[in-house]
Amino acid sequence: MSNSQAGDDRRAERDRRPRVLIGVGGGIAAYKVCSVIRHFKEAGADVRVIPTDSALNFVGAATFEALSGNPVSTTVFDDVDEVAHVRLGQQADLVIVAPATADLMARAASGRADDLLTASLLTVRAPVLYVPAMHTEMWEHPATQANVATLRAHGATVMTPASGRLTGTDSGAGRLPDPQEISLIGELLLDRADALPYDLNGIRVLVSAGGTREPLDPVRYLGNRSSGKQGYALARAAAQRGAQVTLVAGATDEPGDPAGVDIVRIETAAQLSTEMTKRAVDADVVIMAAAVADFRPLAVSEAKIKKGADGPAPIELDTNPDILHGLVESRAAGDIPASTVIVGFAAETGDERGGVLDHGREKLRRKGTDLLVVNAVGAGKAFGTVDNTGWLLSSTGTETALPLASKTLMASRILDEIALLVPDWDARNV
Ligand code: CTP
Repeated sequence: MSNSQAGDDRRAERDRRPRVLIGVGGGIAAYKVCSVIRHFKEAGADVRVIPTDSALNFVGAATFEALSGNPVSTTVFDDVDEVAHVRLGQQADLVIVAPATADLMARAASGRADDLLTASLLTVRAPVLYVPAMHTEMWEHPATQANVATLRAHGATVMTPASGRLTGTDSGAGRLPDPQEISLIGELLLDRADALPYDLNGIRVLVSAGGTREPLDPVRYLGNRSSGKQGYALARAAAQRGAQVTLVAGATDEPGDPAGVDIVRIETAAQLSTEMTKRAVDADVVIMAAAVADFRPLAVSEAKIKKGADGPAPIELDTNPDILHGLVESRAAGDIPASTVIVGFAAETGDERGGVLDHGREKLRRKGTDLLVVNAVGAGKAFGTVDNTGWLLSSTGTETALPLASKTLMASRILDEIALLVPDWDARNV
């Protein structure tokens, strides 16, 4: 092959559409997976769907063909000349198996190849994301948990199921996470195959996210532009890495709750302070990603404030406590275990006194956290956007640039650094 031919091939490979293989198991949640197929198709991926025979009891092959724009088969005996299971598996850049039923995971974990989907799974070298959905008892059964552990040991990502309403009258863990969340995690694995190692198993992570709202009167408040995206992304990624996550959430644009995460809702900085201070005692990692109002109206009017003849009355403000600094002080005082890792955020614009990074360094010193994530904000950057850029500063003096990335990818990089700081789980439990 000539050099120019090799160069052309490399360029074609780089520019080609990602190939996403979606395996659909036989569960009632199969209908929700149609939204995931549509998402990747609309995002420009070449999507192939391989259902199991039982999946076709729930959604017809015509639906999968229409949504993916590609033919659908369940058996290795169709198009035998093309050896479809080898081609589809080998060529995939990402595989999503959803709903991953107990039976499907059992077959995949033991390396069975009795239909096109399981045969293809044996030929895949790309990241594989299993999205379990089943009744709570089936999910918790030791056989299922052993199969999940085996799939993880084989390098697959097995999502933590959501809790909530199941088929019939049941409710509990085992619900398929929202299709949007499956797509987000799938995109993350396309960006970075090793973004979700199962390395935070059992670690208790407390995250705050979103903006606080400080009431002025029954209908008005002082708020900020925080979308909550970065904090939600951290909670989501930490849960998928095995952590027990509590998310203390203020105002946010996020459409749904991350799967497998306990949510506590707050509105004001005072409520946030109460929840974080109380819960930090039992956390191994505390991440303050919330945008906390530094000030609150001194008085909250019980009645709606009227315009009045003399124009607007000035609003007197009082200062809110610095929650993050308070947590660091509590740790120094021994009220929070010394081993607790505390992480802060700094949204900076830079000014005549210094650039974004200078302000970040100064804030790390002032706040006394173990890690500080510094983001450049202003002119459309950071707030409400899907992408983020910045630096990760540590109290030991390391400074890591965080290149422009989705907030989900950014979350996985931040968690990599956090995982290095968390003392060994076994060592802390002797
Ligand atoms: N923070 C907090 N309590 C506050 C204000 C901020 O816990 N009252 C936390 C934020 O959640 C974030 C970090 O402190 O993790 C930095 O927030 P930021 O608003 O950038 O810093 P401030 O301390 O408010 O400093 P300044 O506004 O002067 O830059």
